[in-house]
Amino acid sequence: MKLVQTLLATAVVVSAVPAMAYEAGDVIVKVGAVNVSPQSSSYDDGATKIEVEDDTQLGLVLNYFVTPKVAVEVLAATPFEHDIKVNGNKAATTKHLPPTVSFQYYPGDVNSDWQPFIGLGVNHTFFFDEDGAAEHLSSSWGAAYSLGMNYNMSENWLANVTVWKMDIDTELNDTDITVEIDPVVVFVGAGYKF
Ligand code: NI
Repeated sequence: MKLVQTLLATAVVVSAVPAMAYEAGDVIVKVGAVNVSPQSSSYDDGATKIEVEDDTQLGLVLNYFVTPKVAVEVLAATPFEHDIKVNGNKAATTKHLPPTVSFQYYPGDVNSDWQPFIGLGVNHTFFFDEDGAAEHLSSSWGAAYSLGMNYNMSENWLANVTVWKMDIDTELNDTDITVEIDPVVVFVGAGYKF
């Protein structure tokens, strides 16, 4: 009887201690949709206006927790394809990949199911398969600022929304035109914690 009481008491104590959301060494893999929406006018000198259209692709996000509140994040996706318009007319199409690596900080209560985070990182974008008058676009390095929220649905499954603002500036080869794409990137998906 004593043993049963001890076991029951232990079970109550254990179940009353909420599991910490994340621990050092945790890995989260997220899969979802990611939309890259360039700022409305990427170049405008009064005579020439360049616009880059938005695109949505399959996104993959990896998180590695260094501490319960600090993680490294890698954002990857299938290639984005954007139409480039000059003065309203489609002039070219380009594909790009914007792999982004960030450090994240989770300021919330470690016991909460809702885990907001902020991130600061670096983005490397390279363009390929360009088709049309725009010829070649140089690759770009830039800062990426992010804000997101995980909702931990269970011990392992979570839902996530993350928004990045990325500084992506590219030059049209053989011109002095710098196209400022500077997109807002939105990811919506599901994650699994290992
Ligand atoms: Ni910029």
